[in-house]
Amino acid sequence: MRIEYPHRHERFGAVRIHELTQVIEIDSGLGGAAEQAVIGGRRVHHVPATAINGIERRMAVVVPTKNERRKVIEGVLSGIPHDCTIVLVSASAREPIDRYGLETALLDDLASATGRTAVAVHQFDPGVAAAAAAGGLIDLAPDGAIAPGKGEAMVLAMAITETLGLDHVGFVDADNYIPGAVHEYTKSYAAGLHLATSAFAMVRISWQSKPKVTDGRLVFNRWGRTSQVTNHFLNLVLSTYTGFGTEVIKTGNSGEHAMSMELARRLRFAGGYAVEPFEFVEMFEQFGGAFASPHPEVNRSLIDVFQVETRNPHFHEDKGENHVSGMRTQALHALFHSKVCPDSVRAEICEFLEGEGAVQPGCEPRAETIYNGIVGLDSERFGRYLTKADTFRAFNR
Ligand code: GDD
Repeated sequence: MRIEYPHRHERFGAVRIHELTQVIEIDSGLGGAAEQAVIGGRRVHHVPATAINGIERRMAVVVPTKNERRKVIEGVLSGIPHDCTIVLVSASAREPIDRYGLETALLDDLASATGRTAVAVHQFDPGVAAAAAAGGLIDLAPDGAIAPGKGEAMVLAMAITETLGLDHVGFVDADNYIPGAVHEYTKSYAAGLHLATSAFAMVRISWQSKPKVTDGRLVFNRWGRTSQVTNHFLNLVLSTYTGFGTEVIKTGNSGEHAMSMELARRLRFAGGYAVEPFEFVEMFEQFGGAFASPHPEVNRSLIDVFQVETRNPHFHEDKGENHVSGMRTQALHALFHSKVCPDSVRAEICEFLEGEGAVQPGCEPRAETIYNGIVGLDSERFGRYLTKADTFRAFNR
């Protein structure tokens, strides 16, 4: 992959957020070493296919899924590079049709035809919750059950990734209609993780466009409203601390993202759809320098956050305005309750939420659930219990 090299960034303590960069060539060939060059006035970095493959071999690609169409999931799975380990975490209905059974049959077919490695679990399997509790993830499985939610599925998937001994974890939604987009996202994860100069690294995708049919024409919209709102408030927090206005954050809600396990095992995660924006909030809170960090080794190093604009359009299931406004509200709730959020930003969040009718005047936003992540995971015990869970499936492992 040939990728534009970011030449500007913002710093918040140890967190280095690079400005948005573009994919120049999705495939830049096998040859040569990873190298920078100025081409047509742009600083670009060639990451050879061999380097990308080196990351893919050590990366889990997580597919959280909840009642998505079988054909669409099949396309998503086909877009994940062969050497990545697929981790499917399903919250799909099991009655009257066992959708999880259909999903694992898809994985079975793919794994048998290709020899690739995959693991699947069902989020609501009591055996999986028991494994989480046995592995020390007490808050993920209170009362013997894992709650519904995308963030919850992601924490579970990170525990599986850790147990498999992999070094990186990436996420792709199961409702993406374009397998080529999934492929480009995962290649971009690998390129970004390869370019990171720190063991603590994250790559967040900003798709170039989201096509919609309007009045019979295909229109390629640039930013969704949820992203605009979330990015605005995250940038506001950043500029309140640095004293300089910024718009560097373009990927506050990025569902498509990846990180090194060195970073993942030091972060807390929010439940539901607050999960992605909260990753920024958590990095600011723990590693911004305003508060003492439980992981001072990160503060002595840095976290490289790359934001990459990909080429494929992002074409996914449209779940309606209520769904979108719910995601927006969850993101703002999580920011509001963080100790890193200045009072001035809290007041603006309240004004916005009141304007949306999402809170009553007087504004007491709900606190989203925050999980301890996989800090303190006993992966040996987790793995031992997980393999006994009814819904646990492993292919070619
Ligand atoms: N296992 C599991 N459990 N999967 C879930 C759950 C759950 O409770 N809820 C949703 N999913 C799966 C969906 O099936 C889909 O594959 C993926 O998670 C994303 O959920 P959607 O409900 O389709 O989200 P979206 O498309 O509206 O929003 C996506 O993009 C946003 C950025 O634009 C998500 O990735 C958001 O998290 C992201 O902020």
